[in-house]
Amino acid sequence: MSKTKENLMAAFAGESQANRKYLAYAKQADKEGLSQVAKLFRAAAEAETIHAHAHLRNAGKIGDTVANLKDALEGETHEFTKMYPPMIAQAEADGDKMAAKFFAYANAVEEVHANLYKKALADPKGLPSEDYYLCGICGYTHAGSFDTCPVCGAGKNASIKVD
Ligand SMILES: [Fe+2]
Ligand SMILES: [Fe+2]
Repeated sequence: MSKTKENLMAAFAGESQANRKYLAYAKQADKEGLSQVAKLFRAAAEAETIHAHAHLRNAGKIGDTVANLKDALEGETHEFTKMYPPMIAQAEADGDKMAAKFFAYANAVEEVHANLYKKALADPKGLPSEDYYLCGICGYTHAGSFDTCPVCGAGKNASIKVD
C-alpha cells in the first residue's frame, strides 16, 4: 500500500469517527437546550461524511454492490467471531458491566447483519421489498417490524422504522 493509500484509510477512519462523535455531541447540545450549537455539530458532521466518502473512494475501497456486500459480510463476521468475544470477556473481567452489555448487544446484532447481508448476496435483485426496523436500544435490525427485541428484550416502542 502506498503511503497515500495508508493516509486515505487513516483519514477515512478519523473523519468517520468525527461524524458519529459530532452527532452524539449534537444530541447532548439539544439536551442542554443549545440548539444552535447542535445545528453546528450536525453541519460539521455532514461535512466530515463528505470527506470520509471522498477518502474511501480515492482509496479505491468502494466496489460494485456485490463486492460491497461481500466486504460488509466479512467485516460483520470478523466483529462477531473475532473482535467482540474477547472484548466482552475483558469488560466482564474489568467489571465494566455497561461496556460488557453493549459489546454483547453489538456482537449479537453483527451476526444478524451478517445473515441479512448473506441473504442479500444470495439474490441482490430478488431481495423482497420491505422496510427495515431497528431496536433503538441495541440496534437489532429486522426486515419488517417486530414486537419484542430478541436481543435486548425491549418492547415494540423501541422499534424504529428506517427510512
Ligand atoms: Fe453490523
Ligand atoms: Fe434491542
